[in-house]
Amino acid sequence: MDMPKCRICETTYEAFMSFGNMPIANGFLKSEDFGNEYVYELKVGFCPRCAMVQILEQPERERMFHENYAYFSSISTRMAAHFQNFANMIMRQYLGEANPFVVEIGSNDGIMLRHFADAGIRHLGVDPSANVAQAAREKGIETLCGFFDEKLAEDIKAEYGRADVILAANVMCHIPYLHSVAAGVATLLNTKGVLVFEDPYLGDIIEKTSYDQIYDEHAFYFSLASIEYLFSEHGMEVVDIMPQNVHGGSMRYVIARKGVRPVSPAVAAQNSKEKALGLKSRATFDLFRKNVEHSRTELVNILESLRQQGKRVVGYGATSKSTTVTNYCGITQALVEFISDTTPTKQGKYSPGVHIPVRDYRKFYENHPDVALLFAWNHAEEIMAKEEKFRQSGGKWLTYVPRVEVID
Ligand code: SAH
Ligand code: TMP
Ligand code: ZN
Repeated sequence: MDMPKCRICETTYEAFMSFGNMPIANGFLKSEDFGNEYVYELKVGFCPRCAMVQILEQPERERMFHENYAYFSSISTRMAAHFQNFANMIMRQYLGEANPFVVEIGSNDGIMLRHFADAGIRHLGVDPSANVAQAAREKGIETLCGFFDEKLAEDIKAEYGRADVILAANVMCHIPYLHSVAAGVATLLNTKGVLVFEDPYLGDIIEKTSYDQIYDEHAFYFSLASIEYLFSEHGMEVVDIMPQNVHGGSMRYVIARKGVRPVSPAVAAQNSKEKALGLKSRATFDLFRKNVEHSRTELVNILESLRQQGKRVVGYGATSKSTTVTNYCGITQALVEFISDTTPTKQGKYSPGVHIPVRDYRKFYENHPDVALLFAWNHAEEIMAKEEKFRQSGGKWLTYVPRVEVID
């Protein structure tokens, strides 16, 4: 069998697990399209040389990011607050120069850049999904509709000049051609400029068995070790690192040209933590696979037992993550009646692969089920607070991260 080559260092490596055939995670569809669903095998592997965890096969990018992209960042008020804090931190710490210029990769509907726009700071968002890019433009945020890479970075530099700060949230891990992105960043940043980005953190995925972070859009699962390797190839280094309590555990990295900024002691501290967690050891990923299989058994058992008791179970949050869970565990409408979601473009459609109907959240509100399977577990606090009436009327939340349990 052909061994895959690491996208970062080209070493051959093997998958440590397969989730089987998967549809596009954000591919919510109408019933007339059931026959045309694209599928691929979702396999994930660990590179023993550069420590990058990555999926082996990724659908073409145009299948995932297009004019009907389903994810609008601003659906969550908690995330809106998070990005306001992120923007404020950048303005305080990294925008010293006169007339600074900020670029954001994967700016989506402008959830973070709007704060720079409001402050009158020169900015440019880059996002290939035309619908979300348009939503940002309508808020007065300058947005270029395209895929960020080395070529696009050259074009931006030619038109706008160099950037003081490049930002990215939940997008670097989406981009398989990361070397081109890193080269583009190195080209576009001015001498003392920084790239500040955050993504779900591999350490949290391993510790919480949050295997649903693994899906087509996420080409990579970053650790400090793998990020250090990648950027060292482009004359850059990690100068600071800060864990973030969003999306089930994320990590923010600050990257600068080698030697131009002091390196925070947090970097060495995180390296020690990663050693203790075994993020460079294959055995860690074999244990993870066992934990995932166990989680699947537990979740299916509890859903089957609820069905036998005649309980009504619905899903809460038609997340892209839920596509991995429902397809890997074989959860269909027989076990989960519908998925409640606030996103208008998802409502009235069906979930990818297993075809559970997605309904307007008011259907949840007006007719509470017995149990709600919390697919949007990363927004648990916000959702449980908002839906307090569900609990008061006897409803129960069921989660599967960090373990399968009914929350009392
Ligand atoms: N930053 C936002 C959006 C994350 S979703 C947030 O954290 O909420 C990922 C976004 O990245 C999508 O809007 C997608 O269209 C965009 N994207 C995917 N590939 C990209 C690329 N090569 N360059 C820029 N944006 C990209
Ligand atoms: P995410 O986990 O990828 O951020 O996606 C969150 C999904 O959950 C998105 O489709 C919107 C939905 N959602 C709700 O339905 N209600 C809510 O209160 C929140 C925060 C999200
Ligand atoms: Zn590698």
